[in-house]
Amino acid sequence: MNRTLTSAQVDRVDAWTTVYEEIYTDGHARGTAADGLEGWVDALSGRPLPAEVMWEWRDATVDRLRGLSPERVLDVGTGTGMITRVLGPEVRSYHAVDLTLAGVRDLVDDPDRPAGLTFDRCAAHELNPQSLPGDRPDLIVLNSVVHYFPDRDYLDAVLTSLLDLLAPGGVLFLGDLRDARRDPRRLRERARRSEPWADPHRLGELVADLARRDRELALDPWEPGESLGAETTVLARCLQDSDLARYRVD
Ligand SMILES: C[S@@+](CC[C@H](N)C(=O)[O-])C[C@H]1O[C@@H](n2cnc3c(N)ncnc32)[C@H](O)[C@@H]1O
Repeated sequence: MNRTLTSAQVDRVDAWTTVYEEIYTDGHARGTAADGLEGWVDALSGRPLPAEVMWEWRDATVDRLRGLSPERVLDVGTGTGMITRVLGPEVRSYHAVDLTLAGVRDLVDDPDRPAGLTFDRCAAHELNPQSLPGDRPDLIVLNSVVHYFPDRDYLDAVLTSLLDLLAPGGVLFLGDLRDARRDPRRLRERARRSEPWADPHRLGELVADLARRDRELALDPWEPGESLGAETTVLARCLQDSDLARYRVD
């Protein structure tokens, strides 16, 4: 993507780089990195998402991706490799990138990892088509990544360049999107959970405060496809109750 970012966009990308670098590095230091669940907190309860919720969520995502019968995958924002580790060995080639590779350090350093599994440390907007190994991907995955993008302009620019990269007939999968249509309800629920006995006035203050401090991008999931002229399918998930199940879509 050949585009200069604004300083606000650069600051936001840098801030998330620092946050995730620390989360993954701490996980390794504390010896809790093996399950790859660092940083997954339920915004509704403020507590870490239980492992069984996360594995159900991961399996549902992988099943959805498998159903597309991909051969060449580009995974933008691989994180701890929750999807990469399962889907990577099943396809012909799998190229994973992230702001930090600290979450997949073991895989990056593993000389015995599958030959088609490659990694690159870069942000979504820095992806260079020339640096991608092999043919154009038939599946591009951004799972639980878009809400960290600085704004809609950044998202649109990234999606435009990724659609150019995609093989004809391929799928660009935006998973675990924060659904802006459900955001007001989500904020009210978070506020109510933080102070269950708050009166309506206080509740309004709490909602306003949560909205002010919110650094994540929420969007109407139909919008990117509409503005880019791409055929779009929006899918919800039937999962155990959590922030992921109630307020996110693929
Ligand atoms: C919640 S994790 C999701 C990881 C993985 N996709 C999954 O579903 O398990 C979000 C990841 O997105 C990465 N990320 C955030 N903003 C990004 C950007 N602009 N470009 C590339 N990766 C980004 C973060 O570094 C982090 O590792």
